[in-house]
Amino acid sequence: MKLEELQQMKEKMEDGYLPQWVVTDPEIYNLEQERIFSKTWLFLGHESELKEPGQFITRMMADDPILLMKNKNGEIKAFLNSCSHRGTRLCTEDFGKKKTHTCPYHGWSYNLDGELIGIVAGNKVYGEKMDKSEWGLRPVPRVESYQGMIFGNLNFNAVPLEEYLGEMKWYFDIMLGRSDGGMEVRGLPQRWVAKANWKMTSENFAADPYHVQTTHRSAVEMKLTPTDPLYASYGHQVVLSNGHGINVITSATGESANKYQGMPESMWPMFEKNLNKEQLEVFSKVTNFVGGVFPNLSFLSSCSGSEGTKHNHLNFRVWRPIAPDKVEIWVWYMIDKELPEDYKEKSYKGFLATFGAAGTLEQDDTENWARIIEASQGRMARDRKLSYNNVANYLMGFDNVEPDENFPGPGIAYPTCYTDHAARSMHKYWLELLMKESEGEG
Ligand code: FES
Ligand code: FE
Repeated sequence: MKLEELQQMKEKMEDGYLPQWVVTDPEIYNLEQERIFSKTWLFLGHESELKEPGQFITRMMADDPILLMKNKNGEIKAFLNSCSHRGTRLCTEDFGKKKTHTCPYHGWSYNLDGELIGIVAGNKVYGEKMDKSEWGLRPVPRVESYQGMIFGNLNFNAVPLEEYLGEMKWYFDIMLGRSDGGMEVRGLPQRWVAKANWKMTSENFAADPYHVQTTHRSAVEMKLTPTDPLYASYGHQVVLSNGHGINVITSATGESANKYQGMPESMWPMFEKNLNKEQLEVFSKVTNFVGGVFPNLSFLSSCSGSEGTKHNHLNFRVWRPIAPDKVEIWVWYMIDKELPEDYKEKSYKGFLATFGAAGTLEQDDTENWARIIEASQGRMARDRKLSYNNVANYLMGFDNVEPDENFPGPGIAYPTCYTDHAARSMHKYWLELLMKESEGEG
């Protein structure tokens, strides 16, 4: 794809338009794999999934299968899940605990540091010359964590994770660092494949509370959410560095009937010890945090249940692109480790009813994403002549919403969540990354 074409798209985006065909185009998809998913920090899992030495989980980073394990020293190591003999997938399980991983093909085995420690018939078939130390598993170039969240990066020269997260760390501290002992993942991440483009799913969380009243109308009808058409607009949409974004949703008055997202009062002193004044101000008023770390990690911290029995839950999700029109969705449920067991149980049930593969709200969203693909793959929608009106509309809040200087958190905060500021920022960053290599290539 030519640099001019990307540049032209960026100019369109500056004006609030995004060509519709970018959600189904194979060339764009290949560029994204090379220039975004090979170079940015991708979420792999949470440290609570690897509590003891020997525990392992298998994940995907773009198209690479990854094996994460905790070694004897308690360090988390991540490798390409591929045997160094003939390359077959080494570990075929999703999770477990073992001291050594033995390949199912010819039986080579590896320890928790990825070192090759055993070869079937060893010296008898390879002689003395083969040096086992040269045939260990290939480590993921960079693995770093923040607040228990483990990320990997295929780019040795990437900026440190914390620098990449930037202002998002302040919000992660509220969601993930408020309790002593941090968060824990409950159950396994749910996983399924959906017809969708990863940009639309990421945007839905980072930048689009506007869809809530229409897409999730059944929640209004079940009296789970208010009838007010502006209900998900109250609060602030915050544009963060590197294409990240977050919506800090409050009630219409800006105050929440459920302080600290309705969590038990016994937890409050701990929150007040672990968070600063500004973080507490935001946390005491928020009803939902919904946002995303570019490119494809999204999160939602909300309360579910009827009034008076609301339970907070936090879910993180990865939209792993597997084709221009397909994502593999991974959803983790997380909860404060310190919360009483009965609270966790009720919260988990509330999560399962609303989000995850069988959640009602999740399925509302998934249908719309599939319909975007269906309506964007035909000849009219794919026509690249930009004179055609084949663009999606990102004009909300374009020149009628100004930043709120009094918002206590970092980032550029707009005093409504019904605006396209975060979406425009995310798509502009996406185009910047796509153009980067083109410039170098001349
Ligand atoms: Fe693993 Fe041969 S491919 S031992
Ligand atoms: Fe939704």
